[in-house]
Amino acid sequence: MDKLIIRGGNRLSGTIPISGAKNSALTLIPCALLTEEPLTLRNLPRLADIDGFQHLMNQFGVTTVIQGGRPEDFGRVMSLEAPRITSNVAPYDLVRRMRASILVLGPLLARTGEATVSMPGGCAIGNRPIDLHLKALEAFGAQIELTAGYVKAVAPGGSLPGGSYDFPVVSVGATENALMAAVLAAGTCRLSNAAREPEIVDLCNLLVAMGAEIEGIGSGDLTIHGVKRLHGATYRVMADRIEAGSYACAAAITGGEVLLEGARVEDMGATVDALTAIGVAVEAEKRGLRVAANGPLRATDLTTAPYPGLATDMQAQLMSLLTRARGTSVLTETIFENRYMHVPELARMGADIAVSGRTATVTGVERLTGAAVMATDLRASMSLIIAALAADGESEVRRIYHLDRGYERLEEKLQLVGADIQRVGDD
Ligand code: UD1
Repeated sequence: MDKLIIRGGNRLSGTIPISGAKNSALTLIPCALLTEEPLTLRNLPRLADIDGFQHLMNQFGVTTVIQGGRPEDFGRVMSLEAPRITSNVAPYDLVRRMRASILVLGPLLARTGEATVSMPGGCAIGNRPIDLHLKALEAFGAQIELTAGYVKAVAPGGSLPGGSYDFPVVSVGATENALMAAVLAAGTCRLSNAAREPEIVDLCNLLVAMGAEIEGIGSGDLTIHGVKRLHGATYRVMADRIEAGSYACAAAITGGEVLLEGARVEDMGATVDALTAIGVAVEAEKRGLRVAANGPLRATDLTTAPYPGLATDMQAQLMSLLTRARGTSVLTETIFENRYMHVPELARMGADIAVSGRTATVTGVERLTGAAVMATDLRASMSLIIAALAADGESEVRRIYHLDRGYERLEEKLQLVGADIQRVGDD
């Protein structure tokens, strides 16, 4: 298994190209199930999760073609075409490897009137149930049955009649599934307290480009008037706001200055506010977002929340940055109950962090020291890279398959701005 060797201390400076958003891509790809015509997605990141999802789509009879894209380029174009759905079953062996597979439930149900998807099970950052996905589909008229670890959803008569659902808590995944199910309903579907994340807006924009009728895009109240059929489209995946935020933290912890090329400031409000509070200068430019850390880093208190609040996907990276800030910061994680697995690893590098329930108290330290570390999820792994970039000496970050799931060619991008980072095989 590969690992990354990082020698800390280099000040990052230059330009980092920001890739297409993983979390957006993983909900745009299953939209191919909703039409007989081709769907072409541009700016897809080269990631293990995208390859996995492509494989899953093939399972349903979707043909996929990756076009162009020299190996040295970032991003890819994928065309997906599903003239006929040959299977509406997502088996356990594919679903267990990738939680996002649950997102095929809504579109398969909408297209074929029936879908059977293995339940995804637990994962490293908490319980992650799917009850809200199922309740929303039920509210639209689906019959749901749970047997032998599988969810079977049926639209009596072949299409969902429509209905209303008010989410008791904001769920990104359940909003996505409900939207993809609703667009081909016989009637009208309404969602309140729906997720408003930029990736949801990206999904709505694609669905509208395919002929869907959706009102309230960008708000928590969505009204979807079902249409008989959707057509193909060509669509560019939005820039990855979490990747951009991660590199902003990486540059800031080294006292560096980088241009995050292609990043969209309008999607990154809460992250920009957090960086500003920490004393990092952030400025929107025509080509992207410029981030500069010229003075000392300051402690600040941060709480994760659904959009437009601070993304839970930024918590670990900002925590790393705060390990080097002056003073004491309090971080509160409100989305997932078990998302501090990076803390013991950061402590091994010299960070001073005390966790109590959903709260982490970070007291800034003068120096971090390089160490061998590993993490159990994607963003936690990134937080270790950020700490390693500022640590004295050499760090070894293991289990980097997590990073390959979510950061396109991470070490190359960091090398572009002067980081001393290398991928080596583990023997
Ligand atoms: C969540 C994050 C998203 C992040 C992703 C990967 C939020 C609101 N969502 O999305 O920003 O990119 O993880 O880290 O920040 N829940 C239920 N029942 C359900 C579905 C969810 O109780 O059926 C709960 C979850 O346990 C969680 C909350 O709702 O506490 C939000 O979960 P959800 O948004 O669905 O998770 P993801 O879609 O994975």
